[in-house]
Amino acid sequence: MNAEIARAVALLRAGELVAMPTETVYGLAADAANPVAVARIFAAKGRPADHPLIVHLADAQALDAWAQDVPLAARQLAAAFWPGPLTLILKRQPHVLDAVTGGQDTVGLRVPNHPLALALLHEFSKAKGATQLAGLAAPSANRYGRISATSADDVRAELGARVPLVLDGGPCEVGIESTIIDFSCVTCPTPRVLRPGFITANAIARVLGVTALASKAESADIAMPRVAGSDTAHYAPHTPLRLVAGHQLAGAINDALAAGLRLAVLARSVKTMTAPCLAWHVAASDVGTYAHDLYARLRVLDAADADLILVETPPTTDEWLAVTDRLQRAACGSGENDET
Ligand code: TXA
Ligand code: MG
Repeated sequence: MNAEIARAVALLRAGELVAMPTETVYGLAADAANPVAVARIFAAKGRPADHPLIVHLADAQALDAWAQDVPLAARQLAAAFWPGPLTLILKRQPHVLDAVTGGQDTVGLRVPNHPLALALLHEFSKAKGATQLAGLAAPSANRYGRISATSADDVRAELGARVPLVLDGGPCEVGIESTIIDFSCVTCPTPRVLRPGFITANAIARVLGVTALASKAESADIAMPRVAGSDTAHYAPHTPLRLVAGHQLAGAINDALAAGLRLAVLARSVKTMTAPCLAWHVAASDVGTYAHDLYARLRVLDAADADLILVETPPTTDEWLAVTDRLQRAACGSGENDET
């Protein structure tokens, strides 16, 4: 076993935190069966205690140790997309800690697709032995409400000495958090999307042989599980951020400059700086690269010392839904101080 993985396993076994790379964003991992370790996650993030955590598993075979009454459709999705950026919300086994589920009777499960995360999960499982549950509870490795970390340096900038070990797996390939699909809604006609992600609702519907998936909006009358990502403000820079349509960008820039504001801009269609701004980034036109770069860009724009970040809105098609979701939440939570 690689020496760093061995050190990570030893820390996790001792109830400590380890930041691990995944294909989506970096996770702040702890032994999901150890309440003291799980409490450390909440303390390090400054996250409210009732927000549930995703449990990361080494493989799909571990699913039934954590969930019960697993529907066939959930197994089909696990077979199609794991390891990968998909989280399944399922009825929990009774032993799953309330601290992990936020006291709900469901648990979020995912097998991440990153060689270091998988090596860590496999070695952690081996070290625990066959009779013990081996899962890693891991939220995104950022302070609560802030921009998720997509590199080891981002994790250190977010959490510093709060995390004793950061496994460096390079920049995250996908760049935004996993798609979350909820199987716990008994009155919903299909499983429903709680958080859009790289794996689109259409791709999931195709695997399940249905025409479309239920969404949060369609089931608004049904009691919703608590999803931290569903707090309207999230993924947020300190600098105020506003979304502006491409055809309104020039006007918005002029108005802001006239008001004496220093600007940082994330454009898409407008390729050249049209006015004196502190920073002008042109985002990728394809959704994969845009998502991959998104959080790193937001960090750079946030560090530009501007008074306002203007972001040109992406297209409104299904494949851009997850990116648009993150941008809208970033806009909503932007401009706030940390310790509120
Ligand atoms: O890609 C990802 O999912 C990353 C990487 C590290 O795996 N993790 C991540 O974790 O984004 P976090 O905690 O930042 O977001 C997980 C979301 C939260 O919104 C949480 O409320 C929701 O999953 N969640 C977890 N368990 C749940 C449950 N039982 N019911 C409903 N939502 C749940
Ligand atoms: Mg998060």
